[in-house]
Amino acid sequence: MTVNPDYNIRVDLFKESPTRKIDVIKEKLQREGKDIILLSTGQPSIPPPKWAREKLSRELLEESMRLYAYTPTQGRKTVLEAIKQELEEHEVKLRDKQITLTAGGQSALYATITVLFNEGDNVVVFDPMYFGYWPLLDYAGVNVIDIVEDIKQGFKPDLDKLEEITSKKKIKAVIIVTPDNPTGRILTRDEAERLASLAEKHGFYIIVDEAYRTLVYEGEHHYLYKYAPGRVIALNAFSKDPGIPGWRLGFAYGPEWIIQRVKLVVQETVYCTPAVAQRLVEIYLSDRERRRQHIEKVKQVYRRKRDTIIDEINKTLSKAEYTKPHGGMFLFLNLEKYLEPKSITAEQLSLKLLEEKGVATVPGSYFSKHYKHALRLSFVSETPERLREGIRRLAQLLEEI
Ligand SMILES: Cc1ncc(COP(=O)(O)O)c(C=O)c1O
Repeated sequence: MTVNPDYNIRVDLFKESPTRKIDVIKEKLQREGKDIILLSTGQPSIPPPKWAREKLSRELLEESMRLYAYTPTQGRKTVLEAIKQELEEHEVKLRDKQITLTAGGQSALYATITVLFNEGDNVVVFDPMYFGYWPLLDYAGVNVIDIVEDIKQGFKPDLDKLEEITSKKKIKAVIIVTPDNPTGRILTRDEAERLASLAEKHGFYIIVDEAYRTLVYEGEHHYLYKYAPGRVIALNAFSKDPGIPGWRLGFAYGPEWIIQRVKLVVQETVYCTPAVAQRLVEIYLSDRERRRQHIEKVKQVYRRKRDTIIDEINKTLSKAEYTKPHGGMFLFLNLEKYLEPKSITAEQLSLKLLEEKGVATVPGSYFSKHYKHALRLSFVSETPERLREGIRRLAQLLEEI
């Protein structure tokens, strides 16, 4: 007799994340002794600075419960102060109740979407968009309206189109990631100002994902919150800077009435965030000059890697389309001219590339309903030489298929 499992079928909207799926195959191949070039993950390749780790490691040896205890859900006052002070340098001024820690960026996404959306709300997103949002928006039951960003225009968000939509329909919120994952595009000041003024005029919220805000290679990150403080909820993570993705710490800031509810969702899901991660971040943020030097060093390394992967693409993949990422960790490579004539999807290519050539990537279709022949390539995890090798193997495969 088969037993039908009786559960909330809405959770079936949660699928295994694309990078997790790829990790499973990658790990199997690695166990079989294959060398895999990792162009799939947004895993930093540089740990937090040694001075911060040293200070923390000494504190870990103290006979005290401080780094092992529960903390307030919102976060320890001292770390919240350190984050607020850092944001003030960018003219983002927050009161105590306008910021809360979250268990990584993912928990900030989940909590904010849970708080803000009712079923049937209209939510505008820009396609391609970080894959983490799609299942959460489905789960919330919102009506997603996507505006495709044109690769030939550098993935600029089409704000004319947004204005057209908002003048016809009641929009609850717009979601934007800057610097972007997967495209590396950053919002210009003009775009940030215009988006903020549209939010004020039409009364919608902006969820801005700033997980990569300190990894900008050209230009600068513009803090949307500054331009529309009553309308912007900003989501952040410490996974990329200072590089502690496994320690699960992020934060959200914005209007008090939203953030206080975000805090309660965090309370009911994880209760509090890791005390040890909070302390590391506090140490890291408190020494501004050494932190600045660390970020400069990291950016120099990542920028060089980005330039290497671009150089190799230019040499070996003349029909590929991309725009130079000005921030973040990824390059979005459109291979339509190679794949479309052969009716091969990005998913098929990505799998073949991993199994036959030992190169892990993420299919662009996980980020986009429009770009069906693209791959997202991470340029941070591997050495420059291995980045080149990864692209050479991709070019070889494209010749063979
Ligand atoms: C744009 C973006 N937002 C949020 C997250 C989630 O952050 P975390 O890894 O801290 O959960 C990521 C992770 O890669 C991301 O790229």
